[in-house]
Amino acid sequence: MCRLLLGLGFIAAVLPVSVKAAETAHLSIDASKAGAKIDRNLFGQFAENLGHGLYEGIWVGPDSPIPNTRGIRNDVVTALRALKVPNVRWPGGCFADEYHWRKGIGPAGQRPATLNSTWGGVVDTNSFGTDEFMDFLQQIGSQAYVSVNIGSGTPREAAEWLEYMTAALPTALAKERAANGHRDPYKVGFMGVGNESWSCGGDMTADFYLSQLKIYSHFVRNDNPSQQDAKQMLKIAVGPGFPETDWTETIMKAWQNHDWSWNIDGLSLHWYTVPNGWPPATPSTGFGVSEYAKTLKSTLFMDEFLRKQEDVMDKYDPQKKVALVVDEWGAWHAPLTGTNPSFLVQQNSLRDAILASLNLNIFARHADRVRMANIAQMINVLQSMILTNKEKMVLTPTYYIYKMYLPFQDATFVPVASDAGTYMQGSSSLPRVDALAGKDANGKLWLEITNLDPERPVAIDAEIAGMTVKSAKGETLTASAVDSVNTFRAPNTVVPKPVSASVKAGKLALMVEPKSVTVVLLEP
Ligand code: AHR
Repeated sequence: MCRLLLGLGFIAAVLPVSVKAAETAHLSIDASKAGAKIDRNLFGQFAENLGHGLYEGIWVGPDSPIPNTRGIRNDVVTALRALKVPNVRWPGGCFADEYHWRKGIGPAGQRPATLNSTWGGVVDTNSFGTDEFMDFLQQIGSQAYVSVNIGSGTPREAAEWLEYMTAALPTALAKERAANGHRDPYKVGFMGVGNESWSCGGDMTADFYLSQLKIYSHFVRNDNPSQQDAKQMLKIAVGPGFPETDWTETIMKAWQNHDWSWNIDGLSLHWYTVPNGWPPATPSTGFGVSEYAKTLKSTLFMDEFLRKQEDVMDKYDPQKKVALVVDEWGAWHAPLTGTNPSFLVQQNSLRDAILASLNLNIFARHADRVRMANIAQMINVLQSMILTNKEKMVLTPTYYIYKMYLPFQDATFVPVASDAGTYMQGSSSLPRVDALAGKDANGKLWLEITNLDPERPVAIDAEIAGMTVKSAKGETLTASAVDSVNTFRAPNTVVPKPVSASVKAGKLALMVEPKSVTVVLLEP
């Protein structure tokens, strides 16, 4: 009996939710009221040396039967090229503070095997090192965001790494790079000075970290001649991973009075959606609408978190010279059964796609200060774009959000007002609809609408001022259940589909499905 009830409970939890009568929402968009640029770097990725993120996910080696180019899998490269990934953060995360770059250069057979002590104590062959990372970036068409080791490394080690990557003059390190197959200096767009230095990066106090930051900022230089002026490498300091503001206060107060000898261009911020607290315990599949709503409610805290840190930054940097860089964010669920818990493997459902859209919209609303973000993580780890298993690859619902949001890369933010009201799940109230609008470089207007309500469609009626709009077309991402996923066997369960919309007398009308993300182009 008990077993039967448990079984029935499980079925109820995973059954598609019922569709109820439509709600209505009036949006109003004034295309003449343009705001900040939605920096394309907000769509950055994070690829840590963790589990199967790099090894298997990207690197299979040149001798692998899996089709590859110089060891980097072709299927993954093709999928990522389509996302126009602006930057990739590497090699960590916590791993960055145990990484010693010299072990990952030179002929493959001569690289030492080391331990990846941070993530599972597994053997690291070091086959994927600096030159392979740069090759990967060149293949997908992206920029490097390198995190240097300040926890167990030295300023000299980091300075030499940057010299190896960026020196054009014939120094010993530049010659070593040339001998390893790359005569021209690499570009390094961003340098992270440490990672979570208040925890896994060395458990430092803010004052101690600040003294390290000044040293690394001064001595670790980018020597690439093409990066000396406007296109300089941006230096990103460790920022908070908690809502308290004292760390930000220490760094920004010092920054306000900094002299010529050191500087930063960004302050990092880490915030994961972990609805039930640490350790992460929410399942990534097989959940129902109450877990769905709880997760979305928890992810919306990002807005308040950013605001708190921005208030402090505004005090010391009213001109917003220092960017807030959310270089780790996303859903952190329980590890999938049967996987190594240190590898942080989880499935990726429609819920995660909706969560991604809500966060991207929050970043866009803070675009004057938040100018870069990196979802954790790119492949096979946490809220990834792609899952692989040997020769198989599947694109996740979150991947499709990034694809649908391409028009917002470098678009100009356009404010949207809405009267959509709230959606109640138990005692939790959530906004029924979230929306984002932007004008792209060609002056085209794009509108994104997230319907959080898992049961009710919403009839959208949007008034558009400041621009003549005659037609609209777009696509929507939804599925039968909040926990619908793409698998190797059924890769097209959650994929975007065309949506029909009409425009009459400058008003857009369209029906958005329950639990969906829709992006439309409004055409003149
Ligand atoms: O993304 C996984 C880990 O989460 C990163 O290594 C670390 O920076 C954070 O705590």
